[in-house]
Order: sequence, then structure tokens, then C-alpha cells
Amino acid sequence: MDKTNVLVTGLSGGVGSIVGKFLGSKYKMSGLDLSPSQGFKTHIADLSNLDAIRPAFTNQDVVVHLGADPRGEAPWDSVLKNNIVGTYNVLEASREAGVKRVVFASTNHVVGYIPATQTPYREIFEGELDKVRRPFPLISSNAVRPCCYYAVGKSFGESIGSLYNDKYGLSFIGIRIGGVLQEPDWQVRQKGGLSMWLSHRDAAQIIERSIDAPYSVGFTIVYGMSGNSLRVHEIETAEKILGYKPEDDAGDTFSCDIHNQPEYLNIAH
Ligand SMILES: NC(=O)c1ccc[n+]([C@@H]2O[C@H](COP(=O)([O-])OP(=O)(O)OC[C@H]3O[C@@H](n4cnc5c(N)ncnc54)[C@H](O)[C@@H]3O)[C@@H](O)[C@H]2O)c1
Ligand SMILES: [Zn+2]
Repeated sequence: MDKTNVLVTGLSGGVGSIVGKFLGSKYKMSGLDLSPSQGFKTHIADLSNLDAIRPAFTNQDVVVHLGADPRGEAPWDSVLKNNIVGTYNVLEASREAGVKRVVFASTNHVVGYIPATQTPYREIFEGELDKVRRPFPLISSNAVRPCCYYAVGKSFGESIGSLYNDKYGLSFIGIRIGGVLQEPDWQVRQKGGLSMWLSHRDAAQIIERSIDAPYSVGFTIVYGMSGNSLRVHEIETAEKILGYKPEDDAGDTFSCDIHNQPEYLNIAH
């Protein structure tokens, strides 16, 4: 059987490099980015320019759309250009070229205000584990409580994905990614990090399963976290619809005193 043609926007970035490393030989993979990716054909163009990105979509089966400004603190102008216009352009170029599916890197920030404000998620994110009463409901992938413009932009991406699936039959899988850290020496330095960690192999697995799932899946939004003991977002939809089976668990111990970390960043900005 021929390999699936997969275009990865943002292939040169952090998550893109994981996709290239774990999945680059399984698919006929190429990139679309501002800078080249070693070992892959890369179409160099800015996502905010539809005419410039269009040629990269010819003959692609699946587009994995990672290219974006990934900062929670990203200012509005950058969110608008790179993430909102950029995602519209990716969907429009995909529709024009007859791409069958877009896999979209969404984010936990889309519901970032829930753990910032509500019990028992807040206590888990504050590290006050003795106050947590189990069982508690996991946060649904239907919820939308953005904590920043970045999250609003990602919510737009999920929304236009729903439109393009309904209107044009373009399958769209949005993965609300947790936190991907440098490996092998990963350290959780953010509140909420133990809850939201997504290991490299689990990230590769959930993206691979999103590429391979039958097109009849249509539209779905899932959370992308490892099988963390302190997880507060549901991954049952990803397990049920995509067959995702995480292999890793961040455990329940911070690898440093997060309260004294300069990198400390609460989810709600
Ligand atoms: N890393 C995480 O923990 C995490 C968590 C949640 C969601 N995400 C999402 O996953 C995706 C990848 O994140 P990352 O951590 O790899 O970020 P990154 O900054 O390392 O990579 C992003 C890539 O996109 C490219 N890019 C950005 N704007 C572009 C534009 N206008 N045109 C063309 N290319 C452009 C960059 O050159 C870069 O190679 C992003 O969409 C991010 O929002 C990441
Ligand atoms: Zn946020």
C-alpha cells in the first residue's frame, strides 16, 4: 500500500521535530514552515499568506497543522496573523486541494480558566493534593473557557474545523495538547504540569492515531495528555475514538520546588 502523504505545518518546531523523528518514515512527510526541517522537503512560506502556502497542499492526504505562535502570552496581533488567519488559510488550502483530514494542534488553554478557578482542579494545579476529594468529574472536551488570546485563537481553529467538516466533508481532529517538555531530562516546572504532561512518545502516538483514524470520524476534539495520575482533562474520547493508549504517567511529585521557579507560570495569565 502507498504511504499516506502528510504535510506538517510547523515541522521545524518542537512538536514538529517529535513528529518527524517518530513518524517521518511511516508517511510520505513534508513540511511547511518559515525555516527548513533537516531530512524533509520543506515548503518555506508564511501561513498568513494563502497564495504562498497553496502549492504545499497538492496531493496531500492529511495535514498536521502545528505551525503557530505557541505562547500563552502571545499578543493579539500575532494570534490574529499566525494562528487565526494562518489556520483559516490552512483549512482553505486543504479544501481547495481535496485534503481528506486536518489534525490540529489545539491546547489545554482553551479551558484554562477552569483549573484556575474551580475546585478540585485548582487545588491540583496549586499542588494542594491533600485537599482533593476523589472522585471528581474530568473536564470535558466540549468545554470552552479560554485563559488568553492564544486560547481564543485555538478555539477559533476548532470552530472553523467544525464548519469545514460539516460544510465540505473535511475531517478535522483537534488535539488539546497538554505540556510537551524537553526530553530526556524533562522536569515539571509549572503548576498543572504534572496533570498536563504529554511525553514525546505519547504525543507521537496520539498524532499518529489521528492521522490513521478512519475518515468516518469526521470532526472531533480530544485532549492530548499522558496517562497522568493527576490528570483533570478527559482522555476517554481519544481512547474511544482514536484508540489512544498513553504509555507514560508524570506521577505526583514535582521534580523541583515549583513555587520558587523563575519559569513558574500559572495557566491563567
Ligand atoms: N509545546 C507544547 O507543550 C504545546 C502545548 C499545547 C499546544 N501546542 C501547540 O502545538 C503546536 C507546536 O508547538 P511547538 O511547541 O512545537 O511550537 P514551536 O514554536 O517550537 O514550533 C512552531 C513552528 O511553527 C512555525 N511557524 C510559526 N508561525 C508560522 C507562520 N506564520 N508561518 C509558517 N510557520 C510558522 C515556526 O517556525 C515553528 O517551526 C503549536 O500550534 C502550539 O500552539 C504546543
Ligand atoms: Zn492561556
